[in-house]
Amino acid sequence: MTSPILISPSILSADFARLGEEVRAIDEAGCDWVHIDVMDGHFVPNITIGPAVVKALRPHSQKPFDVHLMISPVDLYLDAFAQAGADIITVHPEAGPHIHRSVQHIKSLGVKAGVVLNPGTPAKMLDYLMDDVDLILVMSVNPGFGGQSFIENQLRKIEAIRKMIDKSGRDIRLQVDGGIDFTTAPRAIAAGADVLVAGTATFRGGPSAYAGNIRKLRGG
Ligand code: DX5
Ligand code: ZN
Repeated sequence: MTSPILISPSILSADFARLGEEVRAIDEAGCDWVHIDVMDGHFVPNITIGPAVVKALRPHSQKPFDVHLMISPVDLYLDAFAQAGADIITVHPEAGPHIHRSVQHIKSLGVKAGVVLNPGTPAKMLDYLMDDVDLILVMSVNPGFGGQSFIENQLRKIEAIRKMIDKSGRDIRLQVDGGIDFTTAPRAIAAGADVLVAGTATFRGGPSAYAGNIRKLRGG
């Protein structure tokens, strides 16, 4: 069973010179969460946002901050992102030596814990994390940049993980990130995703288009 569809716009596609205003604009346009892509130029070939920026954005929206960490080693920075105001912290298993420990660490900070699978990482790696995670994120592009094309075979992974979640009986959100637009969104939802990250498709057309873009992504 999937829950109502949530939209988490990736601010990677926002105007970085006006980031506070952009976060307020997507909030007013009806987004559910705010997706913040943190990149270090080492785990992925791009550099973006650190905890100071997350903290600066915090007063601009009450909506959950969904912080996707693409940094390695990741464990050293979990406390800083929690203190900066993250509500959900999502980590890649390849970004540290002990993914189970990282998940426990995030939960001990009072923050919801997510695990992200890169396109080449199998669903099986979640087997012994299902008792603890609050969210599973399937990357439908290789992490590092907005505006890439959706990798089709990730739909099969979403279907497999949807079955694992339903079997677990736990309240786990299934998120998809990368190349989500008005065409791929319904396909990801049909495969079992219930949280859609969308950067390009949310921010295209500027602030006056955000509400319509979010509504269309949701399927309305
Ligand atoms: C990629 C990021 C995504 C990205 C999505 O590493 O995790 O959140 O910004 O961008 P679009 O929606 O443009 O594919
Ligand atoms: Zn992301």
